[in-house]
Amino acid sequence: MKTNRRTMMATMLAASFAGAMPLSAFAEKKIVLGFSQIGAESEWRTANTNSIKDSAAKEGIDLKFSDAQQKQENQIKALRSFIAQKVDVIAFAPVVESGWDTVLKEIKAANIPVILTDRAVDSKDTSLYVTFMGSDFTEEGRKAGRWMLEKAKTMKGDINVVELQGTVGSAPAIDRKKGFEEIIKAEPRIKIIRSQTGDFTRAKGKEVMEAFLKAEGKKINVLYAHNDDMAIGAIQAIEEAGLKPGKDITIISVDGVKGAFEAMMAGKLNVTVECNPLLGPQLMSAVKDLMAGKTLPRRIVTNEGIFPMDVAAKEFPSRKY
Ligand code: AHR
Repeated sequence: MKTNRRTMMATMLAASFAGAMPLSAFAEKKIVLGFSQIGAESEWRTANTNSIKDSAAKEGIDLKFSDAQQKQENQIKALRSFIAQKVDVIAFAPVVESGWDTVLKEIKAANIPVILTDRAVDSKDTSLYVTFMGSDFTEEGRKAGRWMLEKAKTMKGDINVVELQGTVGSAPAIDRKKGFEEIIKAEPRIKIIRSQTGDFTRAKGKEVMEAFLKAEGKKINVLYAHNDDMAIGAIQAIEEAGLKPGKDITIISVDGVKGAFEAMMAGKLNVTVECNPLLGPQLMSAVKDLMAGKTLPRRIVTNEGIFPMDVAAKEFPSRKY
């Protein structure tokens, strides 16, 4: 029979209370957390990784960290290796929504609790994980859409939008698209004329924007990018095409990383919707609560705002990522 940390801790506590074991022996045992990260595709992801590593160190949690380089198969391998290592808790940011049931069932059979961070899975069986902690991506898309609707009031005629989507099949790409479309349908002049993935990276964002510009040229009025990195890549493409980002093409993006604030201060990006990557402290406190036998809420949502260009300079000094 498998003994997990919770059972072990309960046994040790009982032994300690019975006087057979000093409490100090119990206190020395570190919680072991296996964390499978998506990769290092964006400024956001780097901030997220740093937050998790720093918080684990601060809380004295033994972190087994694995970088999947944006590949689901690498994440599945990492999760299986965490089972083999008998970690106490597994947390991961799933690169895409589908295809996790088999490995999640293996983890459940090994009696290891799972915390989803940042992105959701589409598993029907929600008992396969304890909680999902992170942003409401649909609401982020809606915030971008509401900003677009307001902006539309100052624009004449049809408003042609090109969209740079995140990684295909990922929760933020699906939900940010859905939330944006839900809101902009109130204004029939706003039309998404091209939509393609830029995989959340600067290089791909630039490449796909070049293709959009080649195909549509000056017809493009607005770029909606699912993250700041793709928007920053696209800004380069727009400048190389002899156009002015932020003026000839209005740019809306998501994340709120420092790079986006710099672009806004330079007048090249119009607005960024915040998506907070600093999930480390919340994650470590959830891990400790779990190990102490507490029940976690099924959903832990991050509070976030929206930052238009005109507040960028004032907000920049207090940005943490
Ligand atoms: O899942 C969060 C998204 O992933 C961020 O918006 C993006 O920048 C990152 O790569």
